[in-house]
Amino acid sequence: MIDKINGLRAEIDGLTAKDMGEVEALRIKYLSKKGLVSALFADFRNVPAEDKKTVGAAINELKEFATAKINGMREALESSDGDDSGLDLTRTAPDVRLGTRHPLSLVREEIVDIFRRLGFTIAEGPEIEDDWHVFSSLNFALDHPARDMQDTFFIRRQPDVVLRTHTSSVQTRVMEKQQPPIRIICPGRVYRNEAISARAHCFFHQVEALYVDKNVSFADLRQTLLYFAREMFGPDTQIRLRPSYFPFTEPSAEMDISCDLCGGKGCSFCKGTGWVEILGCGMVDPNVLEACGIDSKEYSGFALGMGIERITNLKYRVKDLRMFSENDTRFLEEFKPAH
Ligand code: DAH
Repeated sequence: MIDKINGLRAEIDGLTAKDMGEVEALRIKYLSKKGLVSALFADFRNVPAEDKKTVGAAINELKEFATAKINGMREALESSDGDDSGLDLTRTAPDVRLGTRHPLSLVREEIVDIFRRLGFTIAEGPEIEDDWHVFSSLNFALDHPARDMQDTFFIRRQPDVVLRTHTSSVQTRVMEKQQPPIRIICPGRVYRNEAISARAHCFFHQVEALYVDKNVSFADLRQTLLYFAREMFGPDTQIRLRPSYFPFTEPSAEMDISCDLCGGKGCSFCKGTGWVEILGCGMVDPNVLEACGIDSKEYSGFALGMGIERITNLKYRVKDLRMFSENDTRFLEEFKPAH
């Protein structure tokens, strides 16, 4: 009996079928009530009692094997391109959901475009940087708090390898390689060791601009800022420069724009002041020019840096920074172009 079962199993294993008709014929031959496998169950009566357990298990196993084999042949034929495939080729295709540009990309493009119209070209640098490009060349004192582990992600120490904390590092990268005139705009991602919340994130985006040439003055900086603010936020926008401090610029300033929510009257968004801060800027410190091999007696320059998230928040009132990196399509689809 066991030999018979094994023989039948080998036979079934070798079966092939060209179409559904053949598959059905094989099913009838082996698995129907009068089929060869079913016949084994009839013979089972004659098996001696002590063998019943093994033989019974073997027949059941053969039945499962035959069923799987025949179903497998049927499925193979169904998924091939034959007439029996069951596909309706005239059906309309399901909607393909189109993606949208990320709001930060849209705003980055807008910022870069404005500076492009003033003759600036894009420059990029690495996100994994060394101490020289992020701090030392930019006139940071050795004990400056930004060099602290609390603010900066260190990949290795001595020599220090860090994730850049600002795009100002690209200034150095370009000035080291190129003599003035230099007019660059540097968008990119930066990292800081901050706890993630609605108002802070451990990575965000900045745009840096640098202009170095003969006789570049603070008036050039101010005019560039005014042009940028009006292109970005509308022709009625006012700007205000407040004295500030950055190691790499002297003098340094922070720029506010008139609050476009209240038109400068004062509201909760601008905390009653009528102004909102949008960027840092200043005249490139002569030490920075010299560190990069540019003669500070012959050349001067201005630099400015802004956070793309900040500008995006001002334009679109996004209340929680985390939304920019959560990839929630309900949020992203709000920035779909309206056509
Ligand atoms: N690097 C500064 C920051 O990360 C931003 C900045 C301020 C860039 C003033 C500049 C500048 O080029 O002149 O906060």
